[in-house]
Amino acid sequence: MLVSAKEMLIKAKEGHYAVGQFNINNLEWTKAILLTAQECNSPVILGVSEGAGKYMCGYNTIVGMVNGMLETLGITVPVALHLDHGSYEGALKCIEAGFSSVMFDGSHYPIAENIAKTTELVKLTGEKGISLEAEVGAIGGEEDGVIGAGECADPNECKMIADLGVTMLAAGIGNIHGKYPANWPGLSFETLQAVSEKVGKMPLVLHGGTGIPADQIKKAISLGVSKINVNTECQLAFAEATRKYIEAGKDLEGKGFDPRKLLAPGTEAIKATVKEKMELFGSVGMA
Ligand code: 13P
Repeated sequence: MLVSAKEMLIKAKEGHYAVGQFNINNLEWTKAILLTAQECNSPVILGVSEGAGKYMCGYNTIVGMVNGMLETLGITVPVALHLDHGSYEGALKCIEAGFSSVMFDGSHYPIAENIAKTTELVKLTGEKGISLEAEVGAIGGEEDGVIGAGECADPNECKMIADLGVTMLAAGIGNIHGKYPANWPGLSFETLQAVSEKVGKMPLVLHGGTGIPADQIKKAISLGVSKINVNTECQLAFAEATRKYIEAGKDLEGKGFDPRKLLAPGTEAIKATVKEKMELFGSVGMA
């Protein structure tokens, strides 16, 4: 059964580790992530962007697929199905469809509008026991057409949004979706420290988990980050493994043209990436 991300993130914050959010794009990715979480005895969050939602034939299809897998694969670790960077309307649709967690990304609105819309969603998600992530300070880079400049959040605005009763808060601390440029100055721990002091026990979310050096990940966790989002790294691993398989000509040999065989190396690569992240985040054995 899908669960809200609330309990797993409170435990993570208290235990000084982070739960990974891995974005899903299709059946293979979903299965790979769920099996790895089970093998690692780790809680996990499946992230769905609005673009991926459309690709996978809508939120109802995704809820059906994930619930079916939880049962058929015998998954017993806590799993949250989470809308990533949702619009207000997208969040409403996911709540309706049976997601157990949603993010409302109001970071591009003026703070008053972000507060008004977040307040509405706090009420709606609260009634259904669904966790809610809010964002302050745009995350840099591009994700599904949403472009952010990578600004640092204002700690006072973070407190205003946290006080509305959201479950977890994504605060921009110089993090960027996708690959980091060579001249990236690194995470702003000064901002993270200031946000952490303002929001107290509220679990903080680090987006753009791909390519952040391990020491910075560990420091971010020590300063209150309890959820880390990873997408690009799984994409790169999947693409690279598939490319190698095709270049080796294996797809043309014997039964290699079988789509299940073609997608298998990429799926294994995602499993390895997810396992490596769970070890780095410290969530192995925490289910
Ligand atoms: P990356 O694509 O940089 O791993 O970021 C993922 C993310 O933050 C999803 O919200």
